Amino acid sequence: MRKIFSFLLIATMAMGITACSPSKPAADTSAPAESAKTEAAAPASEELPLIGVTIYKYDDNFMSFVRQNIEKAADGKAQLIMNDSQNDQAKQNDQVDAMIAKGVKALAINLVDPGAAPAIAEKAKAAGIPVIFFNKEYPDGTDKVGYDNAWYVGTTSAESGVIQGELIVDAWKANANWDKNGDGKMQYVMLMGEPGHPDAEARTKYSVDTVVAAGIEVQELAKQTGMWDAAKGKELMETWLAAHGDNIEMIICNNDGMALGAVEALKAAGYFEGDKFMPVVGVDAIPEALDLVEKGQMAGTVLNDADNQGKATLELAVNAALGKDVVEGTNWVLDATRAVRVPYVAVTK
Ligand code: GAL
Ligand code: CA
Repeated sequence: MRKIFSFLLIATMAMGITACSPSKPAADTSAPAESAKTEAAAPASEELPLIGVTIYKYDDNFMSFVRQNIEKAADGKAQLIMNDSQNDQAKQNDQVDAMIAKGVKALAINLVDPGAAPAIAEKAKAAGIPVIFFNKEYPDGTDKVGYDNAWYVGTTSAESGVIQGELIVDAWKANANWDKNGDGKMQYVMLMGEPGHPDAEARTKYSVDTVVAAGIEVQELAKQTGMWDAAKGKELMETWLAAHGDNIEMIICNNDGMALGAVEALKAAGYFEGDKFMPVVGVDAIPEALDLVEKGQMAGTVLNDADNQGKATLELAVNAALGKDVVEGTNWVLDATRAVRVPYVAVTK
């Protein structure tokens, strides 16, 4: 279990400024006309703190669940301004400026570019409001963004890679016929998430390291980024099937979105009919992937707990907005980098 760090009350924040809350938190938060869609929770009591949220892009399968859980957790606790940053960091910067201008009491930011954390922290610091980053972690750690009132909610990225590796080891050992060419090695392809994203980097590394550490020899046939995206995953898998066909013995995906794409490509090539089979593993445990695990078309996935990550994000943001210790009255604990890390869980049939 992680060490519990207790934090001083943040006395400088949120002092009876409810009168400043805008009466209409909806409408456009960013100036450019073409910029992201924004929405707000139903008009809530004047007492509820106004919190400005960005999602790096709404068109991300897993993040849509995190967003829903933030909204659910905000019920009766906060008013939200919710922004789709449309995978554009410049747009997100504008959205942050606009939300600060609207008088938000805290920011909850899912960065587009994990490296942009110090720039966003600088804006929050200048405005005197706290910021909770979530899902995309500053690679050097949130304690290094240059602002004491910045925290992170996410996971221990490496854990998902290790768990995914363990799933692969167990399944590989239980299915001798998966070594189709009988050379005693596991020939694999790797669908990676966004380059520079700590989850993508760690999953890529630790999944394979775990397999190797279990004494299984591996050979990488192909490795490329599918940017967490199903359509890109499908495209890459089509290319790799054309190039390597049944020499591929394992398809390792940094997330389920890309795994769904890979399964689509496999189905189109006649897999999962008769005994034509290729094992696919992912991370996230989104409902569509659970379905495929159930049908035997995915060998496993790793639960990335959108429910608790959304809840923790909202709870820390509300506490921060009210000038309380961010984990006060919650079950969350902070690590030395000012992060709450929600555990991953293995999922197989
Ligand atoms: C990861 C998740 C991916 C994607 C990404 C976005 O944690 O596994 O599916 O949503 O976050 O930052
Ligand atoms: Ca082999």
